[in-house]
Amino acid sequence: MADSPDSSKIRFSRRGFLKGAGVTAATSVIETANALARNANDAVHSGRVSGPEALPVKLHINGREHSVVIEPRDTLAQTLRDNVGLTGTKVVCDRGSCSACTVWIDKMPALACMTLSIDTTGRQITTIEGLSHGEQMHPVQAAFVKHDAMQCGFCTPGMVMSCAALLERNPSPSLSDVKHAVSGNLCRCGTYPKVFAATLDVAQQRAGLVTLASGTEA
Ligand code: FES
Ligand code: FES
Repeated sequence: MADSPDSSKIRFSRRGFLKGAGVTAATSVIETANALARNANDAVHSGRVSGPEALPVKLHINGREHSVVIEPRDTLAQTLRDNVGLTGTKVVCDRGSCSACTVWIDKMPALACMTLSIDTTGRQITTIEGLSHGEQMHPVQAAFVKHDAMQCGFCTPGMVMSCAALLERNPSPSLSDVKHAVSGNLCRCGTYPKVFAATLDVAQQRAGLVTLASGTEA
């Protein structure tokens, strides 16, 4: 369909909306959204604007390069689920208010439903499927099972991604740190106390291993 005279303005407005709406969750998500927004603005000002037709791109997901054909308006959540088949990333609100769709972009939590796939080229994307190694669960996943930190499970992948990201940047979080890290993750089943316990358990296990290792060296 031919573009109307105002279509470029409409596309820009949608992109602007997505960028703006993406900043409604936790601080680390805000930082990632701002970095992506800066890239989008740079692209606009340098004339590097793609679309509106679908175009082939390569996305680096869970340590592998994936060739996909996407429209510039496609969100990362759509691309992960519909193009790549990684359905572990859940879409619940699809408007940046629940963090169920949390993934990592360059190891920082980001909302996949509020991120345009085209803005993630050249970035390292990690989804819930990328945390485990084959049948071996990530320690945070194992701790969620151990502490029964899930009920319906819709929030769980996003919750795990937020908690695992916290432990990447802060190996010894306090309860308050954990609460802050998942402050954007809505759990309608009320599993928060178990999520906190699971995350702190992983931190304590790791601290014990570090103490054990340093004791062995001494
Ligand atoms: S924030 Fe993305 S599905 Fe709710
Ligand atoms: S386990 Fe159901 S929403 Fe969190």
